Order: sequence, then structure tokens, then C-alpha cells
Amino acid sequence: MSFSLSRRAILGMFVTSLFFSSAAEAAETVNVYSYRQPALIEPLLKTFTQETGIAVNLIFAEKGLIERMVQEGANSPADVLLTADVGRLVEAKEKGLSQPVKDDAITRNVPSAFSDPDDHWHGLTMRARVVYASRERVHQNSISYEELADPKWKGKICIRSGQHPYNLGLIAAMIARRGEEKTKEWLTGLKANLAIHPSGNDRSQAKSVFAGECALAIANTYYMGKMLTNTEEPEQQEWAKAVRIIFPASSEMGTHVNISGMLLGKYAPHPENGKKLMRFLAAPPAQSLYAEGNFEYPVNQSVRPSEIVRSWGNFTPDRLPIGDIAKYEKRASALVDEVGFDN
Ligand SMILES: [Fe+2]
Repeated sequence: MSFSLSRRAILGMFVTSLFFSSAAEAAETVNVYSYRQPALIEPLLKTFTQETGIAVNLIFAEKGLIERMVQEGANSPADVLLTADVGRLVEAKEKGLSQPVKDDAITRNVPSAFSDPDDHWHGLTMRARVVYASRERVHQNSISYEELADPKWKGKICIRSGQHPYNLGLIAAMIARRGEEKTKEWLTGLKANLAIHPSGNDRSQAKSVFAGECALAIANTYYMGKMLTNTEEPEQQEWAKAVRIIFPASSEMGTHVNISGMLLGKYAPHPENGKKLMRFLAAPPAQSLYAEGNFEYPVNQSVRPSEIVRSWGNFTPDRLPIGDIAKYEKRASALVDEVGFDN
């Protein structure tokens, strides 16, 4: 069987079709809306097509897919939505865009802490939001999120926008653990310690440490693996080598973990194919591909993280169910504005 790959960029939206050489062969299809980068999931989707004969139509966008599903309503072609954070999964459920998928194989493969209690969404991978510490200028081996607001770090911390979903997840987890008042104080203290204006992405925070602009940065684990193995932009290897990962933890709060995940569209035109894809993504072979390709922690506990990820050592993830964190994201976003974090 042969594949062809066609790509179109439409107004920043990336559309990929993985289809068979003749229309007759591609009788079965599944439509995927993805907030996850095509380069990351295309190998998985190709394997799915090879194994099942189901062609995948992939629509990628960094923003706006949920809004698009709202507009499309009952005519939405989206069978499966893939996200890079739990906030958007919860948002999609709240907006009535999902339907429950209670499936034995998925339940076996995805621990319940990483699924919606009503099975409207399921996690696929975990990533920890950690501290990248300068190898040169930071000598301690442990840290807590709370400590990042300590004046001893004044002018030494770099972070991307407080409104980015990854930071909203962290701030929401802190609200869940420590309450809103303490979280507001913490955000105010953290803002006072920033070396530069919040900007860029997680990788550029490592670059700022490398450049000597800050001593600590807050970023997701997998970007370290991405940078260390980046042969197209080898300067990123230098950024990564300038830092080491410290997993923040205190008696009040373990290391914050977010998930990437999936859900079945409420109006999925191919629900059975969508469920097949979801089952495939949670099973060990796809989990292993995901773990190796993107340096994330598989949610499937029978699958080991990659060697690079294991080299960062063990950590204690915060034990709050992921769905309990997401419900504070709106408050987190309001707090970011209240303290003028990004100003
Ligand atoms: Fe990311």
C-alpha cells in the first residue's frame, strides 16, 4: 500500500492529508483536529493508517480549533481533538464539544488521574513544568515553586507569558494547593524576580540562561530533549547544555505535571474510527513512539520514558487529579492580569 502526503497552509492553519493512492482504498477515514505539531504526530498517524486502513485527515492549528468546533456545531467534521494541555480538554467538554468514551482498553492504558471522571477526555502524555537552572551560576540541587518568589532570586528568573496555557496550568495547580491569596502573593513575588519581560517560548528561556540574562527559567521537561537532539539548529544544544533540570517540590506541592490528551467530538461523523484511533494512541506501541519522539512521559505506566528523559532522574508529581487543576485556570488567568505579570 502506498501513501501520499499533501499539505496546504491556509491562514496559518496547517492541513495534512494522509491518504491512500486511490479513493476506493480510502473508504474509511477519520478527521483529526490537532493543537499538537504535525511533525510530532504524523509518524503515529501513518502507523495507524498502515495498521487499520483508515486514512487520517489532519488539521493543525496552534489556536482556534475549539472556537472552530463551536462554530461548526453539529456539522463539525472533527472526530478526534488532540490538545497539548488539559485546560483545552476541559474547555471543550464544558462547551459541549465532546462525548464520553468509556473503553476497557483505554481504561487499562490510561491511569484514572489522567482521564476525565466522566470519560470525556483521556491523557496521552505527561510533561513536568520544571526549573532550568544555570549549570554555572546555580549550585543548589533542590528548589520549590514557592522559593521562586523569594527575593534572593531578584532579577534572576526568566519565563514566557503568564497567560500561556503551560503557565496557567502551573498557576491553577498552585491555587488548588495553596489557595488564591497565597498564589497571588507568589505571582507578585515571582514577577518582582523576573530578569526580563515575559516573552518567547520555553526554549528561548534556556537561551536566556545560556546568554547570562538569568539564572533560572521555568519550562517543560521535553524541550530539554528536543534541544539536546536538535541537529537542524545545533545552537539549541548549547542552550540546553547550559542548564540542568531541577524538579520543584515542597511539602505543600509536588512537581506540577500537565498532560497532552484526546477526546471524541460530540458530532464525530466517524465515531468508531475515532475510538479506534484513541485506543491506538493509548496502547504501548504508540505510547513508546510518542515517548521516544517527543521526550514526554507516557501516561501508560507499562511504557518506559526515553533514555534522555530517564537521565533527568525521578521526581514526585503533584498528586492532584489533573481535572481538578484545570477548573482553576480561569482564576489563574485573572490573577495573571491582576498582578500585571506580563506588563
Ligand atoms: Fe509544548
